[in-house]
Amino acid sequence: MTVVEPLSVVILAAGRGTRMKNDRPKVLHEMAGLSLIGHVLATAEALGPEKLVVVLGREMEAVAAEIAGRAPAAAIVIQDPPMGTGHALQVAAPELLSAGAVLVLYGDTPLMTEATLRALLERRRAEDAAVAVLGMRPPDPAGYGRLRMGEGGELLAIVEHKHCDPALLAEGFCNSGVMALAAERTATLLGNLTRHPGSDEFYLTDVVEIAGRHGWPCRAVEASWIEGQGVNTQAQLAEVAAHFQTRRRTELMAAGVIMQAPETVFLAADTEIGAGAVIEPFVVFGPGVRVAAEAVIHSHSHLAGTEIGRRAEIGPFARLRPGTVIGEQAKVGNFVEAKNTTLGTGAKANHLTYLGDCDVGAAANIGAGTITCNYDGFNKHRTVIGAGAFVGSNSALVAPVTVAADAVVGAGSVVTSDVPADALGLTRSPQRIIEGGARRLRERLAREKPGGKG
Ligand code: UD1
Ligand code: MG
Repeated sequence: MTVVEPLSVVILAAGRGTRMKNDRPKVLHEMAGLSLIGHVLATAEALGPEKLVVVLGREMEAVAAEIAGRAPAAAIVIQDPPMGTGHALQVAAPELLSAGAVLVLYGDTPLMTEATLRALLERRRAEDAAVAVLGMRPPDPAGYGRLRMGEGGELLAIVEHKHCDPALLAEGFCNSGVMALAAERTATLLGNLTRHPGSDEFYLTDVVEIAGRHGWPCRAVEASWIEGQGVNTQAQLAEVAAHFQTRRRTELMAAGVIMQAPETVFLAADTEIGAGAVIEPFVVFGPGVRVAAEAVIHSHSHLAGTEIGRRAEIGPFARLRPGTVIGEQAKVGNFVEAKNTTLGTGAKANHLTYLGDCDVGAAANIGAGTITCNYDGFNKHRTVIGAGAFVGSNSALVAPVTVAADAVVGAGSVVTSDVPADALGLTRSPQRIIEGGARRLRERLAREKPGGKG
């Protein structure tokens, strides 16, 4: 289904979010590595609107910066002071097109899907409704406004919880807050809003009754209550985030990703995983990870800003940090950390290693305990390890340094200058053998310890 009329989207986000109980603006709290407002902006942009407007309150520069970074085309308007959802749309009105539809979203309601919003827009358009509202039936409807429906299924009014009679409350049909308005009627609808009796606010929800007074029809479209869940508290944020994880895991499995215990795998909003890849239990994805088909991520690995090649094998207990690219069929084993590092096809770093600012060529082998010393306290330096090179265990590679193709570094070496191709680099001190020395040592220590061995 495509939207066949001009579209303006307005995201309301001027509320302060005091119930989150911290200094971070509510819509900058993160869900799956992306801010709440980032999720809403992504969904809004997927609709391809001609206009995208975000309403913020004053002193919300950090939110404005996030919006500028994620959706540079979005216009930001400041509502100061915030006087209700109706007032918020009035403030945004000069930015909106006067034809087509105006879609209102909330910055703190991040689970809304593109498909649901398209269905709402289509219903409004098809029935030429002045207003179409997204309704829902949450298991705990406390606090939500209620939709009063007419005999013929038309929407008559939205009544805030505190003004509802028991019969309307019992209906349990709630206002998600999302609504689509006929753009050419928006000026009239907003122009007729008055401060709501008993409050200082202009309620956007009053547009439904105003439309009724003009004889303009309104509609409600029911959506899953999960999509309409808003975030007001930390507990609600965790709940909404859990729904998001379930949704993304289900989508990935539907696309052929293998997960034995999906409920233990934590995905970022932008995690991409190819078909046939295996994600074992307790893997955490930060932002910016792409896993190619048939790769295997073993348990307890943590990945962020990383690309994993086809059939590569990671972990268990691997930590891959931003800027890391793991080639096809390469292997990164337990207790290996990599940052800003590329591993060529078939290269291996199987145990206990730190690779920082490093390029490892195809089929190179990095022995257990190898450390790239990439930081001198002031600057970061690169280490280059050529194709087919073999770095012996417990070596320290002091960057900037190159171990060229097919070179070998002897175990335990501290490499401070380049090792040419095919050469053996060794800084180990010679081994001494003292015949009988161990026995003599034991005898002396036993003599010296009062009370003998133990
Ligand atoms: C609103 C609806 C209610 C609905 C509920 C769904 C009204 C009058 N009520 O109530 O029917 O069931 O959402 O969650 O609309 N905002 C502004 N400027 C303002 C006030 C709010 O931008 O002056 C923004 C907030 O940041 C938020 C959204 O609008 O993103 C909703 O505001 P909120 O105060 O949470 O409305 P509710 O009382 O929850
Ligand atoms: Mg609310």
